[in-house]
Amino acid sequence: MAYEEKDIYADDTSYKDIIERPDAFSREDESDDAEFYKRDRMIQHLDSNALETVEKLIGHLTIEDRPAVLDLMASIDSHLPEDLNPSRVVGLGLNENEIKANPILDDYVIQDINKNPKLPFEDESFDIVINTVSIQYIIRPKEIFKEISRILKPGGMHLVIFSNRTFAPKAVKSWELLTFDERIKVVIDYFQHTDKFENPEVFISMGQPRPEDDKYAFTGFPSDPIFAVYADKKGADSSRAKRPRPQEYRDDLEPEIIKKRKARISETHECPYCGQKMRLWGITDNPMSTWDHDIYVCVTDSCPYLVRGWKVMYDQGNPSISYRLTYDPKSDTISPIPVPNLAVIKDSLRD
Ligand SMILES: C[S@@+](CC[C@H](N)C(=O)[O-])C[C@H]1O[C@@H](n2cnc3c(N)ncnc32)[C@H](O)[C@@H]1O
Repeated sequence: MAYEEKDIYADDTSYKDIIERPDAFSREDESDDAEFYKRDRMIQHLDSNALETVEKLIGHLTIEDRPAVLDLMASIDSHLPEDLNPSRVVGLGLNENEIKANPILDDYVIQDINKNPKLPFEDESFDIVINTVSIQYIIRPKEIFKEISRILKPGGMHLVIFSNRTFAPKAVKSWELLTFDERIKVVIDYFQHTDKFENPEVFISMGQPRPEDDKYAFTGFPSDPIFAVYADKKGADSSRAKRPRPQEYRDDLEPEIIKKRKARISETHECPYCGQKMRLWGITDNPMSTWDHDIYVCVTDSCPYLVRGWKVMYDQGNPSISYRLTYDPKSDTISPIPVPNLAVIKDSLRD
């Protein structure tokens, strides 16, 4: 499925009640950030599939040749794809050891941007400013976004990426009260506070499979979702190419191809969405089941049908459910079966 327009973000302002609360940008832990981040955390903050999505997204959106990049709130990894070929990458964060361990950085600055939001860079000195999984820790976002617009070159991009993980005591209180959709709207609001940016765009990736060796694999939940809001600073050269919109899902099969594949399913028992063999599901063993025969089910966690389902169900107000594809050989029908996580069904396969 191709990129969707998100008109709802423009119209719905319900999140404003939350970010306008007097305590919206205060934190449970108001201790000095420099003190808190003194302890080295040589870790990744997302699972490896989510990290791959972040890297691909950055690569996809970068149209500049040899861009100068600022990694704002940087740590051990800036998530830049290997072929990005930047002219310069600067990291700004609070933990010097983490930043020194980041192999891509040419230069770094240690600065508490909550204490001092003035960024120590020349006007129009970066093509790209990236903030990965840290926006929720900024207590003065409007000042920071204004600063980012100052240090970006005309047409340069600010890319904000976040997920569902956070260290709540250091996040602004409003963040925890917002739904995913509202968080997107809030970040759009940060961009729109200055009139320096073009209209922000949104990218969402949900429901990719969680790597089997991930420490949270036991939960059965899919990979960490990736939400991104990005916008160019106004003033790009009018002849410059536009940033290509990323595909939101892997499911980019043409309808004709899907139709043909569906026709093959009864012969091959291959899922028409991912091409993998469907498995015979011992559904008749379940005492609650009304089925008198077993059916086939696609148990591939990266199947686009399942991957897309997490997002489709989320959009309908069901945040933790998707569906797998089943094939009933007796009636020759294909239908979805809801799944609350990636583990169910897998323990009752016949083959
Ligand atoms: C969750 S980590 C994310 C690190 C990195 N961006 C990544 O993608 O892995 C949050 C980072 O934000 C930085 N940070 C938090 N509060 C900050 C502040 N007030 N000023 C500057 N950096 C801050 C910390 O140094 C920490 O490494």
